[in-house]
Amino acid sequence: MTRWLVTGGAGFIGSNFIRLLVNERPADEIVNLDLLTYAGNLENLVDVHESPRYAFVKGDVSTPAEWDDAVGATPDVLVHFAAESHVDRSIDDATPFLRTNVIGTQTLLDWARRRGVRTFVQVSTDEVYGSLRPDDPPFVETSPIAPNSPYAASKASADLLVRAAAETHGLRTVITRCSNNYGPYQFPEKLLPLMITNAMRDGELPVYGDGQQVRDWIHVDDHCRGVLVAAERGRPGQVYNFGASSEQTNMSMVERVLALLDKPRTLIRHVEDRKGHDRRYAMGYDFSRAELGWEPRVTLEQGLAATVAWYRENEEWWTRVKSGAYREYYDRMYAERLRAPSTANGSADEGVTGAHGARDGDSDSQ
Ligand code: NAD
Ligand code: TYD
Repeated sequence: MTRWLVTGGAGFIGSNFIRLLVNERPADEIVNLDLLTYAGNLENLVDVHESPRYAFVKGDVSTPAEWDDAVGATPDVLVHFAAESHVDRSIDDATPFLRTNVIGTQTLLDWARRRGVRTFVQVSTDEVYGSLRPDDPPFVETSPIAPNSPYAASKASADLLVRAAAETHGLRTVITRCSNNYGPYQFPEKLLPLMITNAMRDGELPVYGDGQQVRDWIHVDDHCRGVLVAAERGRPGQVYNFGASSEQTNMSMVERVLALLDKPRTLIRHVEDRKGHDRRYAMGYDFSRAELGWEPRVTLEQGLAATVAWYRENEEWWTRVKSGAYREYYDRMYAERLRAPSTANGSADEGVTGAHGARDGDSDSQ
């Protein structure tokens, strides 16, 4: 029997991970520690709440004194998902990212060490590696980190603190880095749920710049399976990458969504680009394949069709999510962009060429 502490378990990936644990590890006990920020939603776990092996503790990873007792017996494994996770918000205000992703991670590392947690799993991202040019090979586990957004920099900082805790204090740590996830329960600020839910209401689809940025899209189930095997079988101190070898431009993803929903391309609006927009991510995952026997299983065609179907069947879930504070965020972030005239490549004089790994071929990945 393993006792798990999952931080950020009320968010998108954390809730999918907890569901996987409940289903696939029937003897294990799970505590979900989550602050329930704008992105945390206990509705994501309605089917899990009744399980006698699951408990929820509301708390901030940065303030362990407030939840230490509530967590109860020392967990064997701590899987750290809790984070501020959206690049655009980090551009708007980086401070919450430093508080949760950096200070929060260090505080949690100290707590884990004091408590005698056996394994600390840091759930990180491909974005710590920076941006690739069109012909660059994918990132690998040994690629240097070169984050470009405040979000990516905060996650890279956390990864370095995890490494330092392992080297300095001998804490048994594993770092996982994954490409862009999609699937059920994703908060509709991220590209796919935003486009799916806007298109379902015949709303505009705001594509940043020319939409030719490339991401390696992975289904959340594949990511969660990867985190599970890395937690159980990963080598201490090791980094494990997860990707799906499924590189797509943003435009291609939006067009796929439109086709699945039978909606017209006229909904697409090219809007001002994101500042410092990373041009391309792609993941190599040799260590995960060789050491963990992990491979992605869900194809983009299957996964995307299932995801669009999920948002169709769960309109109540996302209507409630979108009607709250997110509405205010959406208006603040998009009102001006959507008022400006649509152009073929977004903002004509800025953004696209200012993006990382942009077409001018400058090297931003090192
Ligand atoms: P999310 O924004 O959906 O969920 C984050 C969760 O963390 C929420 O439940 C929130 O309430 C909680 N949280 C935030 N601050 C907290 C704090 N101070 N204390 C306790 N809980 C707090 O994020 P997600 O997309 O599920 O991402 C989860 C993790 O996976 C993050 O660490 C992210 O960096 C990483 N990741 C995400 C992706 C992706 O594509 N979404 C890809 C690779 C890695
Ligand atoms: P996002 O889901 O925010 O993930 P990340 O920035 O972590 O990769 O965005 C995915 C891609 O989609 C990214 O290139 C930015 C782009 N994008 C848009 O074009 N329009 C949008 O409204 C959003 C949210 C993202």
